[in-house]
Order: sequence, then C-alpha cells, then structure tokens
Amino acid sequence: MGLVYPLPTMRSAQAPREIDLESCLGKTVLVVGGGGREHAIVGALSRSPQVSKIYCAPGNAGIGELAFNVPLKDTDVEGLKTFALENHVDLTVVGPESALAAGIVDAFRAAGLRIFGHTQAAARIESSKEFAKQLMEKYGVPTAAYRSFTDYEEARNYVAGRPFPAVLKYDGLAAGKGVVIAADLAEAEAALKDMLLDGRFGAGKVVIEDYLTGPEFSFMCFVDGAKVYPMPLAQDHKRAFDGDKGPNTGGMGAYTGLSFISGEQRAFALQRILQRTAEAMVAEGCPLSGVLYGGLMATPDGVKVIEFNCRFGDPETEVVLPLLESDAYDIFSAVADGKAPEREPQWSTDVTMGVVLASKGYPGSYEKGYEIKGMPQDGTLVYHMGTKIDGGVLKTAGGRVLMCINRGATLEEAAARTYAAVRGIDCPALFYRSDIAHYELDRRKEL
Ligand code: AMP
Ligand code: GLY
Repeated sequence: MGLVYPLPTMRSAQAPREIDLESCLGKTVLVVGGGGREHAIVGALSRSPQVSKIYCAPGNAGIGELAFNVPLKDTDVEGLKTFALENHVDLTVVGPESALAAGIVDAFRAAGLRIFGHTQAAARIESSKEFAKQLMEKYGVPTAAYRSFTDYEEARNYVAGRPFPAVLKYDGLAAGKGVVIAADLAEAEAALKDMLLDGRFGAGKVVIEDYLTGPEFSFMCFVDGAKVYPMPLAQDHKRAFDGDKGPNTGGMGAYTGLSFISGEQRAFALQRILQRTAEAMVAEGCPLSGVLYGGLMATPDGVKVIEFNCRFGDPETEVVLPLLESDAYDIFSAVADGKAPEREPQWSTDVTMGVVLASKGYPGSYEKGYEIKGMPQDGTLVYHMGTKIDGGVLKTAGGRVLMCINRGATLEEAAARTYAAVRGIDCPALFYRSDIAHYELDRRKEL
C-alpha cells in the first residue's frame, strides 16, 4: 500500500467554500513540486468549484494550508504514479522541469493517468539547448546565431575569432547556472574548461551564441498541440541585488503590466515565436501539452528568443496565475487531454507585483531554520517558496523563502502595497530587492 489520505477540509485564502455534496464528489488533483510556483498553481486550482481535493508532492508549509502535502520527491516518477493510482487522482499538474525531463508524463500516460505537462521528448525544448536552437533555426523562429561544440579546442578557437561578450551555454539542465556571459577570452576559456574539460555538469556540449541586447520579458502560454493560449506578459529579476547586480538567482521578484512591449511586439512574439514553435513541435512528432515559456528579448532587430522553458516560470507564475479568471481545472484538464479549452482563458486587467524574500547568502550558502514573524495580514498574497512549520512555528527552509504579491489597477499601487507588506515581515535572516519593477516604473517617470 502507498499513501492513502482521508477527505480534507479544504481551506482557501481567496474563497472559503462550504463542503457540500458537489464538492465531495469533486475532482482530486495532484500538483508536483514544492515551491512558490506550485503554491500559485495550487492556489488557482483551489479556486475551481470542481476541485475538492488537492495533493502536492512534496509541497511546503504554505501549500499545506490549501492541499495535503505528500512526502514524495518531484522526480520520484514511480512513487508519484503509484500514489496517483492509489488515491484516484483525476489530474496531475507538473511544476518543475526536472520531473518532465525524468519522463513523468510518459509514465503517467502509459498507466492511463491524466497529466498536464510535456512528454520527455517535448521537454527537450528546455532540457537540450541544442535541440531548441536547431528547431528555431529549422522553422525560422528568431534567436541569436549559434554553434555547438563538444571539443574544447574547437570551441576555444571559435570563440577567439568572435566579438565579446560571448554567450556560452552548457547543453542540459544546469539549474540556471549553465550560462556564462564571458567578457573576454580568458573568461571564455575558464568557462569552456569548466563545461567541457572538467565535466562540472557531466559530459556534454556547449552552445556558443551571439550576445543580444534589449529588455528581457517572459511570455508564457498554455499549449495544446498546435494551438497556444497566451498568458499576461511578466518580467523576472534574475540578479540577487538592487540595480540588477550580484549573482544570478532563481528570480527575486516579478510583475505584470509591461508597457515597454508594444501590442505589435506582443503579437509578433505570439504568432512568430510561440505559435510557430508549437506548430514546429507537432511537425517534429513531439507536440507540446502544457506550458511553453518564452524567455524573450526585445532587441533592436525585433523580439528574439533567449531560451524556452517547458513549464511555468518561477517567479512569473506567482504574479500571472492570480490574474486567471477562468477555471484553472478546465484549462489544465483540456490541455492534458490534448483538447482546446472550451473557452479561451480569461485574465483580469489588473496588474500584479511580487517581491521574493530570500535567505541571506542565497544563491550561495545560507542557514535555515529561522523563525518568520510579522506575516502580512493586509490581504497580501503570500506564496511560500521554502518554509516549514517546526513546533508550530513558521521557519525558513530554503534559499528563496517567501514571495509577497499584490494586485492593483496600476503597478505603482501594487508595488506600494507589496513593499509595505514585505517591510512588515520580521526575520533577520531574510533579504529582498527594493527595486522590483524598476525597469517599468523608471521608464514611466521618464515619459
Ligand atoms: P538562459 O538560461 O538561457 O535564460 O540565460 C540566462 C540569462 O543569460 C538570460 O536571462 C540573459 O540575461 C542572459 N543571456 C542568455 N543568452 C543571451 C544572449 N544570447 N545574449 C545576451 N544575454 C543572454
Ligand atoms: N523565471 C525564470 C524561470 O522560470 O526559468
């Protein structure tokens, strides 16, 4: 026997519901993952009147308020499959790419289970930089010119004959640490040694591409085979400190309501990048069936792809999904079944802004286990990224710990509320950036 859980009394921060017959007969959903992104996914599902029970594996302290946390790793495909079968899960929604790259969707479908996420073959759009680059080249999706190498000398000679900075990408999942922007040949050589000679990430290839300039933004869409359904645009903040300084992180904050991308640029990105890529994947025999995330850049030569991800972005999801007005279960379900959602997903015209609180030292080493006091009571949405309850006390348990989000008619309003809430959180072991959304807000002041 695996883990079998009793019927829950669900608690939803947004819309407490009475348990009635309909909800007792409602759908059971399993969400795979345990960060802020999965908290946002669980939050969206908890607003669906069709969903009566949510499990989350492994979940976290915040998710535990809306769902049953299940102590299984997100890459434990066999364990998760057994759990879903034994607990009569109607639909599984996958957060992290590692689970997709491990083949969770293939395994679930082979067992007759419904699951939202891409197959292992389709997940190559994120897990293999070379696959993504070849696809874009073949189908004319705009991106930086590139070459890929396995041999250190060849890579070194190529990069030595190119302008700097040079962009070197390790081909494989490297948890965001596989990209080096080398300012000169010495930096490029050091990175190539790391990637090709020392096998820091395992044996592999390196993609070397041209350096592009322009503001970056994230454009996510649901994809059911050849058709894409766009979500609101968002912008992430990858560097640890204010002014976009310091090391790259998993993301220190995000917002929606980007006015620096014109309607024309958005339409181009939707048709010529996302829609075309979905069609290309169908033509290649590995259709997408989940989220396609375009990490895009508005370059002086038009919008181009920096990277594709095959799943919801983190922390973009935390600011995007609260704006979903349609029933999330309907959308996830339709995509899982390879069908069009009955209605095009509807989004609020509000904007959202969210700030991440991380453990001091992150993304390097940091200590865990500090008590967090002063959690917002003012309606701020708080998604947990790395927390645990220890002796009834909320404590830090990860690099990124919490994300506070507010919505508003304007970004200024949402940002003011979020920072008021963040300043009220009392935990000396946490830090945050105080300039989230600066690109948009500074630009507006100049207009
Ligand atoms: P990636 O993991 O491919 O998204 O790369 C991480 C970050 O490196 C991106 O968010 C960009 O800021 C930067 N980057 C990646 N590729 C390029 C490029 N071709 N030109 C300029 N910056 C890049
Ligand atoms: N926010 C970047 C990512 O999800 O990869």
